[in-house]
Amino acid sequence: MIEILVANKSHVKYAETVCSLMYESALKRGTGIAKRSPEYIAKKMEEGKAIVVIDDERLIGFSYIESWQHKRFVANSGLIVDPDYRNTGLARKIKRAIFDLSRELYPEAKIFSITTGLAVLKLNSELGYVPVTFSELTDDDDFWKGCEGCRNYHILQENDRRMCLCTGMLYDPEKRKAADSAESDNAMDMIPYKVLSPKRIAKLKKNLRKIHLI
Ligand SMILES: CC(C)(COP(=O)(O)OP(=O)(O)OC[C@H]1O[C@@H](n2cnc3c(N)ncnc32)[C@H](O)[C@@H]1OP(=O)(O)O)[C@@H](O)C(=O)NCCC(=O)NCCS
Repeated sequence: MIEILVANKSHVKYAETVCSLMYESALKRGTGIAKRSPEYIAKKMEEGKAIVVIDDERLIGFSYIESWQHKRFVANSGLIVDPDYRNTGLARKIKRAIFDLSRELYPEAKIFSITTGLAVLKLNSELGYVPVTFSELTDDDDFWKGCEGCRNYHILQENDRRMCLCTGMLYDPEKRKAADSAESDNAMDMIPYKVLSPKRIAKLKKNLRKIHLI
């Protein structure tokens, strides 16, 4: 049975597997990777800041939360699905779960992502992220240090951290709230503000019959 769970200390035994999956996939894609040690992944699990997917004692999916700039920004990182389980909708479920967990743990924070991956761009859009320039993301040096392992890091440096090959995406809870309430206002506009009484409807129908002979 496949279970999608908020991680806890009982999952620490899977930290090495998570790192191996990440490493192997980075080698295959020929991309660089933000270095994560098994100890770092284990800590995220112990803190309940990660989602694990387990199929009968086998770890098959993972993602974790990092916070920056005094918890004003949050990133959902390290998304990985075991190659044997890809293209079955698992990443979509993990992204939803880690997003919901981020909203629960950091309700005020802006959630952001930088990626070149089409799957992640698509999943982020579904969750309400919008593309932004890097100036909208955290300016926490520790976050950007994570890019040092990437083969494109020189491009980021040459552009003074303003742009690179990744697309920046941001979910801003304040802006989302405003957009949602504008949408519901528009929906209200479409509801007739005055509901007619049955008596009035009968009268209108009678007049229509007179005009159109129905
Ligand atoms: C990227 C990854 C997480 C996708 O996992 P998955 O479980 O196969 O994805 P899903 O089945 O949930 O697919 C979600 C959507 O992404 C699309 N998608 C999945 N893999 C894709 C790929 N390699 N390229 C383009 N689109 C992809 C799917 O078609 C689907 O969209 P649709 O429903 O509109 O058709 C997985 O391939 C992986 O672990 N890759 C290596 C690590 C990685 O790249 N992580 C992301 C770092 S930014």
